[in-house]
Amino acid sequence: MILVTGAKGQVGSDVCARLQQQNRPFLGVDIDALDLTDETAVNAFFASHQEITSVIHCAAYTAVDKAEDDYERCFAVNAYGTMHLAKACGSDIELLYLSSDYIFGDDGFDPLETDDEPEPRGIYAKSKFMGEAAVRMLCKKHYVVRTSWIFGEQDRNFIATILRLADTHDTLRVVFDQIGAPTYSRDLAVLLCDMIESGKYGVFHATNEGECSWFELAQFALRLAGKNVTVLPVTTESYGAKAPRPKNSRLSKRSLDEAGFSRLPTWQDAVKAYLSHRKEQNQ
Ligand SMILES: NC(=O)c1ccc[n+]([C@@H]2O[C@H](COP(=O)([O-])OP(=O)(O)OC[C@H]3O[C@@H](n4cnc5c(N)ncnc54)[C@H](OP(=O)(O)O)[C@@H]3O)[C@@H](O)[C@H]2O)c1
Repeated sequence: MILVTGAKGQVGSDVCARLQQQNRPFLGVDIDALDLTDETAVNAFFASHQEITSVIHCAAYTAVDKAEDDYERCFAVNAYGTMHLAKACGSDIELLYLSSDYIFGDDGFDPLETDDEPEPRGIYAKSKFMGEAAVRMLCKKHYVVRTSWIFGEQDRNFIATILRLADTHDTLRVVFDQIGAPTYSRDLAVLLCDMIESGKYGVFHATNEGECSWFELAQFALRLAGKNVTVLPVTTESYGAKAPRPKNSRLSKRSLDEAGFSRLPTWQDAVKAYLSHRKEQNQ
């Protein structure tokens, strides 16, 4: 039985849908059923669900800018919540932990390898890196999957925000000097479900293929959606988000290839698929 945490979130909901489609036994929980910050509750949950053999851990505190002030809650969920889970998994239960490109603080141009030096800069980034450390130290059978720039059906993502803003603004300012890859939660869910129970433990990077800036992503999505709005490229510094972000989020897929996992589709195909699915749902 596979336990999915964060089952109501972007990735968690798509992971549950994928497992359902594959007819695999799973249990999806979110904070209302299991608050990961409560260690006693986590231990009691595992004691009463002896059938759990694997965990896909999608739950997290993901409000990157808010975390700069709300650091206690961010660490409680991402670092300590993950630690409780990893401890409960121990040496028997396998655990797949989702991490982030933000654990790197790189401003260069080369794709980052899984063993490149981490340099988490903001509170969210540090909390995710502490989660990684807890998983590596406390859970023997682990997969760490670093991903980036997720968009999913729940419309709490960059593309949905840009499309919404285009209806009320003539001009949008979008950062052009952070380069990475958008990741469609549906595509990621397919990989995560292939990975869990594979026994190919390790650290992996997984995003849609190709690279772009937030500015290019905004332009591409707006064009596809037929929205006529001026997009102005701005620097990270002039945009002035509260939390620091790396300029280089290019993640090398070397370890994914070496383990024989399939790469995700290109980000352009992923954005097309997302927008057409969105259109179908709104009809
Ligand atoms: N979003 C991105 O761009 C991005 C990029 C790189 C990596 N990641 C990582 O990918 C994973 C999935 O991200 P996502 O975008 O799918 O996140 P999401 O949509 O924010 O979903 C996270 C879920 O976890 C729940 N949660 C929060 N605190 C919890 C707690 N104490 N106990 C149990 N559940 C709790 C949230 O509930 P509430 O909504 O009620 O808080 C939410 O349903 C996370 O590990 C994230 O750090 C995300």
